[in-house]
Amino acid sequence: MNEITASAPGKIILTGEHFVVHGSHSVAAAINKRARVTISPVYKDSYIISGNVKTKMSDNDGKLVLVKAILKNVGKQGNLVDPIAVSVDSEIPPGSGLGSSAAVAVATSAAALKFAGLDPSPRKIFELAMTGEKMVHGNPSGIDVESSLQGGLLLFSRSTGAKSVPLTRTLHFLVVYSGKQRRTSVLVNKVALKQKLFPNFFDSLARSASILSQEVANAATAGDLPRLGAFMNISQAALSWIGVSNDSLDELIEELAGQNVLGAKLTCAGGGGSVIALPKPKAMDMLSKYATKKFSWSFFTAIPQPGLRWEN
Ligand code: MEV
Repeated sequence: MNEITASAPGKIILTGEHFVVHGSHSVAAAINKRARVTISPVYKDSYIISGNVKTKMSDNDGKLVLVKAILKNVGKQGNLVDPIAVSVDSEIPPGSGLGSSAAVAVATSAAALKFAGLDPSPRKIFELAMTGEKMVHGNPSGIDVESSLQGGLLLFSRSTGAKSVPLTRTLHFLVVYSGKQRRTSVLVNKVALKQKLFPNFFDSLARSASILSQEVANAATAGDLPRLGAFMNISQAALSWIGVSNDSLDELIEELAGQNVLGAKLTCAGGGGSVIALPKPKAMDMLSKYATKKFSWSFFTAIPQPGLRWEN
């Protein structure tokens, strides 16, 4: 069997994060940072390597559990020829809120299915990647995996699935990683508690999140940046109400709001992770210089970006 490499992107969420777990619509976009997974045959002892972490497939050492779970699952379905070397190489910092685990899950699932001679159809890859995501996130909505798999800009809900949002112009976002790692599952549980305590209020916010998502999708299609930015700011207010923002994210967002941006918000689970800002088109260069000087890890991403890609 030949070596197989697949790559998949991380993502940002423009609106509807957390509410999407409770059935709302949400809008997400794939970004220009990717995870690459290569599977190749070796002579003995299957292993997985990622940066300076190396673990044997058979070891129950808590290392690279998502990758191991997906590979074991494929092993059960058919002939994932043993022994193999699996190399995971990601440009997306784990815990940064940029969909690192979903990107690794999608790239691993695709590479493993193909390597095993099984059908690597989008549905099969989605289902397999979700088994890995469930291990690390508990109750994922599926938006991270769909976004990584399909790329582009998506309007997603658990009941309707993912619909591609057409764009008439390229969108540009500044992404700033706060440097604070956090676990999505902890934040998702925190929001579930809020929903239990304030069911009616939460329900009205969840319905607003769906309306907001449709508005964001429409503004993105129309290329109406001021409107898109305004909806991002409203989205941030709702995320603050449900308790997933914090002082350092609020400060970061306020700081960006003073820098020629049309909107700024936390993205994905919050509690740390990353913030996104929509720059005024003429201020891109200025903002880029400012961000490079000011933040240790920030980058611009153009939208749309491709989803899953075979690299060989
Ligand atoms: C995490 O990227 C997005 C959340 O809405 C969780 C999920 O949808 O699975 C916080």
